[in-house]
Amino acid sequence: MKFIAQALRHSTTVSSRRPFVLVNMAMTADGKIATANRTISTFSSSRDQEHLLELRATADALIMGARTAESDGVTMGPGPARFRRMRLKRGLAEYNLRVIVTGSGSINIRAEVFESRFSPIILLTTERVASRRREVLERVADEVAVFGDAELDFTSALEWLRSKWGINRLLSEGGGDLNDALFRAGLIDEIHVTICPLVFGGRTAPTISEGLGVSRLSDARRYSLQSLNQVSNEVFAVYAATRTERSGGAK
Ligand SMILES: NC(=O)c1ccc[n+]([C@@H]2O[C@H](COP(=O)([O-])OP(=O)(O)OC[C@H]3O[C@@H](n4cnc5c(N)ncnc54)[C@H](OP(=O)(O)O)[C@@H]3O)[C@@H](O)[C@H]2O)c1
Repeated sequence: MKFIAQALRHSTTVSSRRPFVLVNMAMTADGKIATANRTISTFSSSRDQEHLLELRATADALIMGARTAESDGVTMGPGPARFRRMRLKRGLAEYNLRVIVTGSGSINIRAEVFESRFSPIILLTTERVASRRREVLERVADEVAVFGDAELDFTSALEWLRSKWGINRLLSEGGGDLNDALFRAGLIDEIHVTICPLVFGGRTAPTISEGLGVSRLSDARRYSLQSLNQVSNEVFAVYAATRTERSGGAK
């Protein structure tokens, strides 16, 4: 809980027309978030799983890319009753909203996440999706919102999530493609990363931020280390966007 209190103290200092955005990921000591064949992506301790649910209990909504959201066992929920009680105590809804990004509309509509109806599911997509496919998506989601022609306009999407759905604090749990788009748009205010004592290797094994990345040092997103805690064999680090980062990204 100590990490959560630190994180919440920091996030109250940022004001913007979009939600405060934090990302939470577990990675191996060699920086991978899954094996190269992508079959293993859950590898952290039960303490880290608890940390994930504690962080979810601070956010109005959870956002995931299509490949992560459609994985087996993923419901994007708040977890057991005690985490829902934490949410209510903080003045949040008992169940977090769920936001899924699917630029081409390829999300598997039979995925487990659509079977649980505890809170609204919002799909963010682009004009690339044909109207017939959009109708299919509208059958499984509570809202399908289009932002951008070929590229998803995350700045507008996040401002809309705040104004239409009242999302003030948005937690990204990846994967790497979604994170990269959020980083490049300067929309990530805080990074929570758990470093686990494993090495996966593999040139094609994904990392926290995939996609296009940047090609110049001057374009790198900049963060400062807020806290570093060791629990048993794992390291829990929190980074906050620097002031320059925030003034560039957050409107
Ligand atoms: N260790 C961890 O903490 C952790 C956390 C999360 C995920 N993972 C693992 O990471 C892997 C998945 O990561 P990933 O990077 O391949 O996939 P991802 O980000 O979960 O999903 C990628 C999909 O999301 C949509 N998307 C993402 N960014 C977009 C953008 N800028 N514009 C439009 N659409 C966008 C696209 O959907 P469309 O194809 O429909 O356009 C894209 O194909 C899995 O193996 C997962 O289990 C690990």
